[in-house]
Amino acid sequence: MMGAPYTFQIKNPEELDINELESFCAFVKGGGQVVSGVAKRLKEIGKVIVLVRLANELAAVGALKVPMARYRSNVFKSAAAVEQPTDYPIELGWVVVAERHRKQGLSSQIVKVLLEVSDSEQANVYATSDVEKGAMHRSLERNGFVKAGAPYRSELDNDRLQLFVRKRFPEPH
Ligand SMILES: CC(C)(COP(=O)(O)OP(=O)(O)OC[C@H]1O[C@@H](n2cnc3c(N)ncnc32)[C@H](O)[C@@H]1OP(=O)(O)O)[C@@H](O)C(=O)NCCC(=O)NCCS
Repeated sequence: MMGAPYTFQIKNPEELDINELESFCAFVKGGGQVVSGVAKRLKEIGKVIVLVRLANELAAVGALKVPMARYRSNVFKSAAAVEQPTDYPIELGWVVVAERHRKQGLSSQIVKVLLEVSDSEQANVYATSDVEKGAMHRSLERNGFVKAGAPYRSELDNDRLQLFVRKRFPEPH
């Protein structure tokens, strides 16, 4: 699959048709990231969705979200981060690559594409990632994220999560 012509499509959640919505939810559940209610959460906090396809096959997904202020501040508190949650209005997440499309740099490209959107809005972004997910850490760090605070236990599923933050790159002078 090396060098395969993947296409990256950016959509607002309300632009997803029923098939895309179902596939997106199935991907996120399959990636073990949200236990239930993906469609509802997508509607409530989803901002931008990226769909990666190889021909007609959905290969990977990712998203930007605008989490509730209280949820976001709990994350920063749990991580004991010195950074202020109010400085990071957007969360990057729901990044899932189908197994047979892994290890080709797709997660890294998804992060890059999503950051182009947040950068265009001059927004700082945070993300959380399971401490076991080395590939996701690498993709985040490659794209300018740095670790904030210390690993903490997720209330949702008891995974150990690491908080990452990324300040929007300064505009070139
Ligand atoms: C985690 C996941 C998104 C990674 O996707 P991927 O497209 O296979 O990752 P990439 O090919 O972009 O790899 C990213 C980088 O991590 C590196 N990497 C791979 N496995 C690694 C590991 N175990 N430890 C450290 N680095 C690793 C890769 O070499 C690559 O580095 P490079 O950019 O310098 O070449 C994918 O495995 C997945 O969907 N898992 C299930 C859902 C999930 O856990 N999502 C993340 C939520 S925290």
